[in-house]
Amino acid sequence: METTTREKLSKLQERETRRFAAEHPKSAALYERAQNSLLGGVPMNWMKKWAGAFPVFVERAKGAHFRCVDGRDYVDLCLGDTGAMTGHSPDAVVEAVAKRARDGLTFMLPTEDALRVGEDLKKRFGLAYWQFTLTATDANRFSIRIAREITERPKILVFHYCYHGTVDESFAMLRDGAVGPRRGNIGPPVNPVETTRVVEFNNLNALEDALRQHDVACILAEPAMTNVGIILPEEGYWKGARQLARRFGTLLIADETHTICVGPGGCTAEWKLEPDMLVFGKAIGSGIAGGTYGCTEEVVQRISARIDLEDCDVGGIGGTLAGNALSLAAMRATLEHVLTKSNFERMIPLAVRFNDGVSREIKRHGFPWNVQRLGCRAEYTFCQKPPRNGGESAAAADFQLERFLHLYALNRGVLLTPFHNMALMCPETTEADIDLHTKVFAEAVAELA
Ligand SMILES: Cc1ncc(COP(=O)(O)O)c(C=O)c1O
Repeated sequence: METTTREKLSKLQERETRRFAAEHPKSAALYERAQNSLLGGVPMNWMKKWAGAFPVFVERAKGAHFRCVDGRDYVDLCLGDTGAMTGHSPDAVVEAVAKRARDGLTFMLPTEDALRVGEDLKKRFGLAYWQFTLTATDANRFSIRIAREITERPKILVFHYCYHGTVDESFAMLRDGAVGPRRGNIGPPVNPVETTRVVEFNNLNALEDALRQHDVACILAEPAMTNVGIILPEEGYWKGARQLARRFGTLLIADETHTICVGPGGCTAEWKLEPDMLVFGKAIGSGIAGGTYGCTEEVVQRISARIDLEDCDVGGIGGTLAGNALSLAAMRATLEHVLTKSNFERMIPLAVRFNDGVSREIKRHGFPWNVQRLGCRAEYTFCQKPPRNGGESAAAADFQLERFLHLYALNRGVLLTPFHNMALMCPETTEADIDLHTKVFAEAVAELA
């Protein structure tokens, strides 16, 4: 971007920052008060990354909208970074959770809901057996442990610029072709070169080179990358990757936590991926904490043979509240009533509408940007062509520009995710919600042009 445009961007950002502060006095006061008791004034450090000088404090939310403590209404296209892809507080889940809350929350004993959830997951994803966690991070961590245990191999493989939650082994990236800790990695237990191989997505030769030493227990992968923009697999990539993994005895773990956005069975069902293990969290309980991982019959046979009853509670796979009754009640209601085929049929065309609108405005001004879509998730990146891998996508990132567009949208009633330019549809998102985003985006880019 030219220097003159950068200067203009800085001035526009200052103007929007002033407007944000003036229109959110109650959030500002809460943020100031929070400095006394919360580290950095927020419950989680990433909540500082919102584009305004402080986060908007939420009062209530329902469906695709929320209201802040200053009484402003927003179209929520962030949807809790997928945790609320179901829409906020879907009625069926609220009822199931309320009933469960009255009847006991956690027992260290199963409820029938667990079976209903396991049966549903088996049908939608095709994997035979399921276990539960409180987060997708834990589901990834436990899947990795199982893969290492049964293959007796030390390493895992991830893609450059992946994100799979706070899994130590996955905070690795390539620097000049060598593996090292990801930028910003806080207190890594060991240099991840000891635990992890990293390759670029969509490069089968690199994958083959990384697997050929027969020391990689598993590939942990999103079927399409979603955490550094949307990066779609090229034709034949997963077929090739699946074959390579089998050839070298490496397990394939599909992390469908975000890619569930393509349909009820995620990319695994849509693209017939045949992973050995599958992870799904966030939206699975409509925002009530819960995650799951599933295994094939073969993986289960191999791991069962190695777990001793006496040690099964101290093997590093656990969590006192994992599989609790409340999580399972929320999951059952979410799977039965919300993450359904008919709801995806409503959500996906809305993402198409989002893309059409954004793409029209990008073309109108001749900006070298593009917009991608994966099911009901859409995202624009600041490069002419859709990136093929994490490296290309990260090279196109523009933090200053991103913050301006986010703040501009926020000031006009639209919330995007703070981390990149993602927009997600839920069953209650409307065409009017999408059109508001398109209008606001058009105004923002017109100011920049
Ligand atoms: C693909 C993917 N997997 C796993 C996670 C971890 O989810 P959680 O933070 O709920 O553990 C994330 C979080 O963003 C994610 O994007």
